[in-house]
Amino acid sequence: MNVVKKIGVLTSGGDAPGMNAAIRAVVRSSIYNGCESYGIYSGYDGLITGNIKRFYSTDVSNIIQRGGTILKTARSKEFKTEAGRTKAAENLKKIGIDSLVVIGGDGSFAGARLLSQEHGIPVVGIPGTIDNDIYGTDATIGYDTAVNTAIESIDKIKDTASAHNRLFFVEVMGRDAGFIALRTAIATGAEAVLVPEVEIDIEKLNKFIANEYDPKKSGGIVVVAEGGEPGRTYKIAEEVGRLHPDYQIRVAVLGHMQRGGSPNQFDRVLASMMGNAAVQALLDDQKSIMLGLREKQIVQIPLNKTIKLEKSLNPELLELITVLSTQRK
Ligand code: F6P
Repeated sequence: MNVVKKIGVLTSGGDAPGMNAAIRAVVRSSIYNGCESYGIYSGYDGLITGNIKRFYSTDVSNIIQRGGTILKTARSKEFKTEAGRTKAAENLKKIGIDSLVVIGGDGSFAGARLLSQEHGIPVVGIPGTIDNDIYGTDATIGYDTAVNTAIESIDKIKDTASAHNRLFFVEVMGRDAGFIALRTAIATGAEAVLVPEVEIDIEKLNKFIANEYDPKKSGGIVVVAEGGEPGRTYKIAEEVGRLHPDYQIRVAVLGHMQRGGSPNQFDRVLASMMGNAAVQALLDDQKSIMLGLREKQIVQIPLNKTIKLEKSLNPELLELITVLSTQRK
């Protein structure tokens, strides 16, 4: 007998452009394949409180182009407890939801893995975070759009930096990872980049500014990843300013604007492919995996692995910034 699967979908952690496109794909693909679809509101909190609604195809109409997440999102404290996860599992059983798609970052996947382990609920993770800091995938949903948003802002800052010959320190997001910062720095022709993976060496930065680059001639940009300490760039800029009192230094913190906005084509297509692949994986009886993008193909990675292993920055790209920003005669 072919039992109809009931597939729940939720978004968790920081929102990312393209999450709506992923929700749409999960819902439509579930229904296309003869399953029932359920939207769970406010991340794991909605699982615990039972804030769950049956979704039909039209519930996800006209959302593919929208930023944010129609399901809302949260970082649930209660779900980190065993009691919270038990409540969540009970709610799922009450409605008969037998499998789950979780769209979020590695913190969300850690919760998903526990739910699957403790209560036998099959879970598929879709990597959705602007940080791109998830092992097993070349790209996460929202990263490409966020980088483009940062680039657009810095291009504007460069106009004013060069008009005044000022050195700007621009802070971008990235709690534990410098992927946004590094890519943005290369794409905007920044003079330097500071990422959480590399200890900040103000002396080295100073030497570089003093010897290899003269912001007094044409202005300049240093991209700084927030590194879990939003606003840390003010301190860094102040330290550099103390050593270079003749430079006009300014700071711009881009903040949450990087999380919003309409997803670009890359994120919409990635989200659509992953949403469909998540449903296929559940129909194929996968129990605890994440989807990733590797060499343009959607691949499956055990949740265990993506949680334990860390994705590292490409050292060649870090070196590239120095090579391309050095202005020797
Ligand atoms: O994880 C995505 C992210 O945007 C990080 O880059 C950032 O450090 C964090 O979320 C900000 O979180 P919140 O929106 O809770 O301030």
